[in-house]
Amino acid sequence: MTDYIIQDEWKIIENKFDPSVHQISESLFSLGNGRMGQRGNFEESYSGKSLQGNYIAGVYYPDKTRVGWWKNGYPEYFAKVLNAANWMGLSIQIDGVELDLAKMEVSEYYRALDMQEGNLVRKCIANFPDGKSLEINSIRFYSIADDEAAAYRFSIKALNFSGKISMASFIDGDIKNEDSNYDEKFWDEVAKQQNGNTSLLTIRTKKTAFDVCTATSIKTYLDDKQLKINANTIEKEKWIGQSFELDIQEGNTFSFEKIAVNLSSENYAKKELFEQATERIATVSAKGFDQLLSEQAAAWKNKWENSDIIIEGDVAAQQAIRFNIFQLNQTYTGEDARLNIGPKGFTGEKYGGTTYWDTEAYCLPFYLSTAEENVSRNLLVYRHNHLQKAIENAAKLGFKDGAALYPMVTINGEECHNEWEITFEEIHRNAAIAFAVYRYINYTGDKAYLKEYGLDVLIGIARFWAQRVNWSEQRNLYVMLGVTGPNEYENNINNNWYTSSMAIWCLEYTLTALESVKNMDAARYQEILDNTQFRFEEETEKWQHIIENMYLPEDKEKGIFLQQDNYLDKEQILVKDLPASDRPLNQKWSWDRILRSCYIKQADVLQGFYFLEDKFDLETLRRNFDFYEPRTVHESSLSPCVHSILAAKLGDEKRAYEFYLRTSRLDLDNYNNDTDDGLHITSMAGTWMSVVEGFGGMRVRNGALEFQPFLPENWQSFSFQIGFRNSLIKVSVNKENTSVLLLSGPSLKLKIWNETKSLTNAEIVNWALPVLEK
Ligand code: BGC
Repeated sequence: MTDYIIQDEWKIIENKFDPSVHQISESLFSLGNGRMGQRGNFEESYSGKSLQGNYIAGVYYPDKTRVGWWKNGYPEYFAKVLNAANWMGLSIQIDGVELDLAKMEVSEYYRALDMQEGNLVRKCIANFPDGKSLEINSIRFYSIADDEAAAYRFSIKALNFSGKISMASFIDGDIKNEDSNYDEKFWDEVAKQQNGNTSLLTIRTKKTAFDVCTATSIKTYLDDKQLKINANTIEKEKWIGQSFELDIQEGNTFSFEKIAVNLSSENYAKKELFEQATERIATVSAKGFDQLLSEQAAAWKNKWENSDIIIEGDVAAQQAIRFNIFQLNQTYTGEDARLNIGPKGFTGEKYGGTTYWDTEAYCLPFYLSTAEENVSRNLLVYRHNHLQKAIENAAKLGFKDGAALYPMVTINGEECHNEWEITFEEIHRNAAIAFAVYRYINYTGDKAYLKEYGLDVLIGIARFWAQRVNWSEQRNLYVMLGVTGPNEYENNINNNWYTSSMAIWCLEYTLTALESVKNMDAARYQEILDNTQFRFEEETEKWQHIIENMYLPEDKEKGIFLQQDNYLDKEQILVKDLPASDRPLNQKWSWDRILRSCYIKQADVLQGFYFLEDKFDLETLRRNFDFYEPRTVHESSLSPCVHSILAAKLGDEKRAYEFYLRTSRLDLDNYNNDTDDGLHITSMAGTWMSVVEGFGGMRVRNGALEFQPFLPENWQSFSFQIGFRNSLIKVSVNKENTSVLLLSGPSLKLKIWNETKSLTNAEIVNWALPVLEK
């Protein structure tokens, strides 16, 4: 753990320069706008330990797989979102000595990520070895008003000297991924050009041939007056820039503005890319830095109006929840159905920047409630567009007749993961994708989604489950063998309760979906049956038989479902009885020892209780929670949120809050000692769920919102905004009551605890907060 971040309601602040946490800060100070993003690297040269990161969504490289023992069915490559050109390049030398904070004394230092307005500022004083002191002020942002643009202003003030400054501004395309499997570089140069103060560089990914053109334009000022410079063009392979010299007098401030656009061949014809980038950079830089900065603040104001959570009485919690919301909004804006949410977003290389079940299982609720409907719709359409690839993926493993297995990890629909116990066996991801269709329709009421995009995905998934189970003569029931549940600390197990229960749920839901599309639009229904070559009677009868005859392990005596066959044979020592020095298990124990132990990485049976909650009564949940949680080590960042929501449902406010704390400041306090490689973006959505679904107890039942709120003990109040079917409401919970205000849109009915009231106009409606039964 680290705790150097200063608490503030709207800002993430560090107030001293400590190279030992520099990479953590680079992750925490990441900027992004859904289309591109960047780690919090310094603008100027920095020779200390750093992970440089600039990413363009959708631009990937198929890095050749590296495995110890090849198994048939493994994918050939792992798609990585690439580290792209660094547009910020800046070198400053004073009398021949490079400004580099790793090599000089830093006497004042302040860096703050302003989440309210979406920018990153830094102020510091660098003392050169020869005694010259330079004050630096910078501000930088990735525009969410124009998602191809980013900019910074960098000012330097000579505090105690006059001298010669040599500067170079450049675009560096000669970069590599730290996680490259064979230490290769993934980019080739296509073209570069210098026109006045505009630099352009187009580079192309090897194999996938994506072109990305980066264009920058610079302006210089001396004490607020624009300064004309005589610059020379400097070029190297995959690198272009300008250099110039100027004299600075003591007390003078020299400022440098750099505006950049990044255009990719995903959105423009390759042959037009250079020209388009030339036009885009001209238009964007004509607006000027200040105008872009104020557009950015206005766009963020708008985002916060729909997604803010206000916590009174706990600054650490307030800062944390806003940080989570800020990062989610920086990662995905839903404007492009080809994009998705990588577990690290634009903040690091780990996980390849690709799509996991995290999106459907954890991220969807956040976007459903805080963004326009098309944002979450696009998350679903992404999978619809990959259906054919999922069918091919299943076929590679021996499935047939249109069965679809969505990949564990993907960027373009093809499987990228290559560990057999996950790639082939962690098949529950298919269920999360089907469940997301249900969740989306339940939330939005957009039933037409089923006939447009949903049904064929559901059919493919249902077909997969129907082929993945087998009839056991011994049990006289269907079984599902050789799987890995969400708990990755168990592999190749039989009858994982979660996976089998979700498979049954998928079959049931697909049958309902068929019926519903048939009633909605008979012609479209027939079209889908024809396109999928659906053998109605044979297939639906089989599904029904599986639904009625699936084996789901349980221990009747204990009143719990069993995570898998023979789970109780394991030595049952609770996590609390493990020596602290053994934790985290994944760093301290051999894999062999982990696999044989009873320890659970993340919610598994309890994930099923979270998704399928209305199937079970509170007592069944309590027994299962009391059994499984004490065996769970929460070594996935996705674990505590589900436990927080379930604990809240059980009325255990204290534990709900404890679990919430584990997710909300996970990165800010570097809880898992891994923030340096990037942020845990997808679990941030889980943090949001802990507040809204946990403390707020929000659910959508029968087309209406319901809440069962409670106030964590050390908070004075909390409130959150929820968009629901064209209405925007603000729910506020304090010690006395829960009040709801309709901010915009049509009136609606809400059930809070057991009382339903209507919201109309801009009138606050109150519900008294009942005392929870403990
Ligand atoms: C978790 C998975 C998750 C992945 C990416 C793993 O550690 O066990 O459930 O999909 O991380 O976040």
